[in-house]
Amino acid sequence: MPIIAPSLLASDFTNLQRDIEMVNASEADWFHIDVMDGVFVPNISFGMPVIQAIKKHAKKTMDVHLMIVQPERYIETFAKIGADIITVHHEACTHLHRTLAQIKEAGCKAGVVLNPATPVSVLEDILVDCDMVLLMSVNPGYGGQKFIYKTIDKVKKLKAMIQEQGLDTMIEIDGGVNLETGKLLVDEGADALVAGSFVFGNEDPSATIAKLKEL
Ligand code: DX5
Ligand code: ZN
Repeated sequence: MPIIAPSLLASDFTNLQRDIEMVNASEADWFHIDVMDGVFVPNISFGMPVIQAIKKHAKKTMDVHLMIVQPERYIETFAKIGADIITVHHEACTHLHRTLAQIKEAGCKAGVVLNPATPVSVLEDILVDCDMVLLMSVNPGYGGQKFIYKTIDKVKKLKAMIQEQGLDTMIEIDGGVNLETGKLLVDEGADALVAGSFVFGNEDPSATIAKLKEL
């Protein structure tokens, strides 16, 4: 069964507590929290005060996806306000090895995110230090975009690389996930699926989560 991580980016911010409680009561496993800085990605989402407010009500793992430049400047802060998993972009980290160590020292699980254009081969010598790899199946910055099918290939390659190195690194996928794309991803070995608009855009988000969980 895949881990399901609803992305709060697609929630109703005027009813954030209601949507958090829906996730708490659902079969979802994690809260996926998208932080965007308007520099690494064209969009700005939300920052620390909003995450602190989410943490007050969220009863599940907080999976924080940092779409920001120089994420090393804020790792301790995100850990302190409630992140359990912190993922940083390969494309945003000059000293990725050091940043992953910093995340672990702060008491969190550490993950690396790859944009659609970044090949999984860049992970060869850093995979051993990753608790998780997050493959973007859309260009980061916005919810509701079309799934890039090339990602299926990348999951297959990454899974082989993980097995070859004898690791148990998790594979998470983010962007355009629905029942059709989710099934293809799980079949290739994806462990965790992020879903934003597919969950919150549905009139029964909780039932939608349950369906994803069955993949
Ligand atoms: C995009 C974010 C995603 C986004 C996914 O930059 O990282 O987490 O919320 O949204 P959907 O599921 O609508 O593609
Ligand atoms: Zn995300």
